[in-house]
Amino acid sequence: MTPDHSINPLLMKRWSPRAFANTPIDPSEINKIFEAARWAASSFNEQPWRFVYAHKGDQAYDRLMESINPFNQSWTSSAPLLILGVVKDDFSHNGSANRHASYDLGAAVANMSIQAAEADIYFHQMAGFDPKKAAELIGIPEGYTPVVMIAAGYIGDAYALPENLRERENAPRERKAVSDFAFGGEFKKDN
Ligand SMILES: Cc1cc2nc3c(=O)[nH]c(=O)nc-3n(C[C@H](O)[C@H](O)[C@H](O)COP(=O)(O)O)c2cc1C
Repeated sequence: MTPDHSINPLLMKRWSPRAFANTPIDPSEINKIFEAARWAASSFNEQPWRFVYAHKGDQAYDRLMESINPFNQSWTSSAPLLILGVVKDDFSHNGSANRHASYDLGAAVANMSIQAAEADIYFHQMAGFDPKKAAELIGIPEGYTPVVMIAAGYIGDAYALPENLRERENAPRERKAVSDFAFGGEFKKDN
């Protein structure tokens, strides 16, 4: 797929695979990925994002996996790294609810996924997991909320995926036109 307007090639390189290679991610790459999160913008510079990551083979990996729904489990098991994205619910400076915490976590994960793509490491973010179960199994305290699960790794062989997912893996990517979401001066409802 080509963009309608020329953009930074890394933005096009990033995508969400389900087949991962059985190749561990080096700690130096993991450091760079989390460094990219550090530099995201956030409301009041709160930096409300928190991450719990685990390598395949770790006990924490199995715990994170346990919270993932069966559909996502069917393909995530090949990922060498799982990352749980968590937010701190309240602002540290005054204790009030931070209603942009998830927004800021999303910005941090966007930075991370682009930094990862530069090193041929790909993220597949998931809403399909049980945040309460993840919080219990990992021991996330009150005041922090799991928001997203991320499978990360190098691209693997699509034929190793369950049959129902093989074709989807390399299907053309679908995108709205810019004119469907960016409006000059007035809002337009979806048709
Ligand atoms: C917050 C969020 C939740 C998602 N949840 C799931 C999920 O539970 N299972 C899944 O297979 N993909 C999930 N995805 C991946 C999206 O389907 C994918 O990003 C989208 O189809 C666009 O494809 P691309 O990332 O390859 O460009 C999720 C993505 C995001 C950002």
